[in-house]
Amino acid sequence: MKNIYFLWLLSFSWATGQHQPSIIPQPQHLKVRNSFFTLCKNTEIETNEKDLFEISYLQNVIFQQTGLTLPTLKKSKASSKIILNLRNIDATSTKLKNQYEIKINENQIEIKANSPEGIFYAIQSLIQIIPNEKKQTIKIPCLELQDEPKYKWRGMHLDCARHFFPKEFIKKYIDYLAMYKFNVFHWHLTDDQGWRIEIKKYPKLTSIGAWRNGSMIGHYSEQKFDNIRYGGYYTQEEIKEIVAYASARHITIVPEIEMPGHAVAALAAYPEYSCTGGPFEVGKTWGVLDDVFCPKEETFTFLENILSEVISLFPSEYLHIGGDECPKTRWKTCSHCQNRMKSENLKDEHELQSYFIQRIEKFVNSKGRKIIGWDEILEGGLAPNAAVMSWRGTEGGIAAAKQKHFVVMTPGSHCYFDHYQGNPKNEPIAFGGYTPVEKVYNFNPTPKNLTSEEANYILGAQANLWTEYIETPSHVEYMIFPRMFALSEVLWGTSNPEKYADFQNRMIHHFDLLESKGINYSKAVFDITSNVKAAKNANGILFELNSVKNNNFIRYTTDRTVPTINSTPYIQPIQISENTIVKAAYFENGKQKSATLQQAFQINKATGKNIELQVQPSENYSHGGAMTLVDGMVSKNKTLGKDWLGFAGKDLMATIDLGKIDSFNKVTISVLESQGSWIYFPQNIEIFVSADGKEFKSVSKIELDDIKKTDGKVTLNLEKQEAQFVKIKATNFGDIPEGMPGAGSKAWLFVDEIGVE
Ligand code: ACM
Ligand code: ZN
Repeated sequence: MKNIYFLWLLSFSWATGQHQPSIIPQPQHLKVRNSFFTLCKNTEIETNEKDLFEISYLQNVIFQQTGLTLPTLKKSKASSKIILNLRNIDATSTKLKNQYEIKINENQIEIKANSPEGIFYAIQSLIQIIPNEKKQTIKIPCLELQDEPKYKWRGMHLDCARHFFPKEFIKKYIDYLAMYKFNVFHWHLTDDQGWRIEIKKYPKLTSIGAWRNGSMIGHYSEQKFDNIRYGGYYTQEEIKEIVAYASARHITIVPEIEMPGHAVAALAAYPEYSCTGGPFEVGKTWGVLDDVFCPKEETFTFLENILSEVISLFPSEYLHIGGDECPKTRWKTCSHCQNRMKSENLKDEHELQSYFIQRIEKFVNSKGRKIIGWDEILEGGLAPNAAVMSWRGTEGGIAAAKQKHFVVMTPGSHCYFDHYQGNPKNEPIAFGGYTPVEKVYNFNPTPKNLTSEEANYILGAQANLWTEYIETPSHVEYMIFPRMFALSEVLWGTSNPEKYADFQNRMIHHFDLLESKGINYSKAVFDITSNVKAAKNANGILFELNSVKNNNFIRYTTDRTVPTINSTPYIQPIQISENTIVKAAYFENGKQKSATLQQAFQINKATGKNIELQVQPSENYSHGGAMTLVDGMVSKNKTLGKDWLGFAGKDLMATIDLGKIDSFNKVTISVLESQGSWIYFPQNIEIFVSADGKEFKSVSKIELDDIKKTDGKVTLNLEKQEAQFVKIKATNFGDIPEGMPGAGSKAWLFVDEIGVE
């Protein structure tokens, strides 16, 4: 009996897919059979292409993973072999080049592709199919796999200006891209805080521009600095080596040389190309600085000379010329700039920026290359052949595609891997935001509202890793893994939000692979995530907990004690109708796997009630939606995590339905100020009440000066009210004043918990 039971268990685990290889990105077609190929020391590689880089690459990765050294032969008589079949057809289209097939039966593994690129992708899949174990004989499931990517641009970006990463790590980063079938490395080489590429004609760019006399410590909002000299740069020899390394791995490096903004490191070296003449020092502070390139003739000559050297180093079709966050402050008062605007008939500084980019585009086009820039290059008119990288949401990308320009999607909401990926309380300091792996997995680079013709202009997407808060290679790894897994599947075109659980199982399997290679990764996925819903009986809220695997392994307390394996098991959402602190953690095999989640609730008459926003928050800061304002969770810290709703240049207009006529004499609301991040307190906050939801009357108003005195925890005391509906209007601060970071742009308004008592 026992044996039959055991067999049944085996076949059951088979049926549930435990023997399915965990391939990321999931291939387009994969059929696994119930038999095995055996990889062993007698296995041989059969190929006509002995000199192909891919062959030695395959031998190498197999050796690293299994310890087996496999010989290569033109014709193998071995009973166990890997056949590499590079078809001799002229694969000119990207689609044909990228296709590959793997067939594994009991005696052989056969890989077929039309190009070395296809062979390379096949090897990446094969190495994930081969179990990660050092043994003399390794069983590999028999299968059939046909595969090709959906998107052409499968990118990862790395900011090497804010922090510098040595050549050896850049190669590792390229390896990571290769493992997950990315094909573009966007290398951010210049910014206010450092110039990182040797330019022979202008040696001061690196002798001066690559070094700063201090950096920010802690978060930007703290405005603290050290005075340690920091810097580094890549020599042209190193760049050639890295470009060749990437190219062998079918990865194109797109270098970014920022202009006209984010240029202070260059201007510190050559102040004559600024509006004021300087002097400048290489930026020590993060954020956006006001000094930018001045569009005079000498500046164009300077930039063209730089770009000529860049073009000779990088064979990529596209050069990234930045174009983002260029304050117009200096241009407004510069005689060169104003004269240029007159002589070129430009109506404002946005058109001057457009003129700048178009001049650069003409030059780059004349060298047979194309430019790509951040979506600000749409402002004032898009350069005729430019591609657009849409980062401030997807709107810029949509506008560009409608104008028949190519687009790479990198919206902050889904593709900024410098944002938090778990609860900020458990995470290293990050820029802000909240972009967990599941959110990345749900990303669709092709907006639904494009026609199929317009959709053809979406080249793909990429994740950006800005490194203000990331100093070490290990921290870079932590921020990209596992979110890069999710993006790879999105870009390959096989992500399916309904099958997130399947992706999650494969992801956890890949953690073992990363660990075996000594690669760091975030364990935030083991964190308990939570969700607040209104309780059905309008009595407070329901606090729903979720863990990556089995929710029944969550234990929680509501008595302020630390949860242990013996605490209450989580079975269903916890109803909360009075002030409480919930603490919860995920346990496996008696051990705590997650950080302890700790959440305080403050319950009042508005908590869990129906709330409507008349103005929607910005996509990047809308986590949890309107309910965020009445979920009983009052944000304490000033990190821009998921507790806040953010409105870019817009007011808050919210109406809460208390469900019945009720009495109250106080309304509270949290607002945030962080001027360095362009976030300002509102001009005023006004409260209106209504019995029927139609006719509202104003009952209280507080102005900016008094809001400032509250440090953001605003209380409006009212005469005693009897009403069912409470409307809160917070008027956005408006334009950011001169002399402040972001001057002239619209301020952000950040709001949280509204209380009615
Ligand atoms: C950007 O994040 N400033 C492109
Ligand atoms: Zn100027």
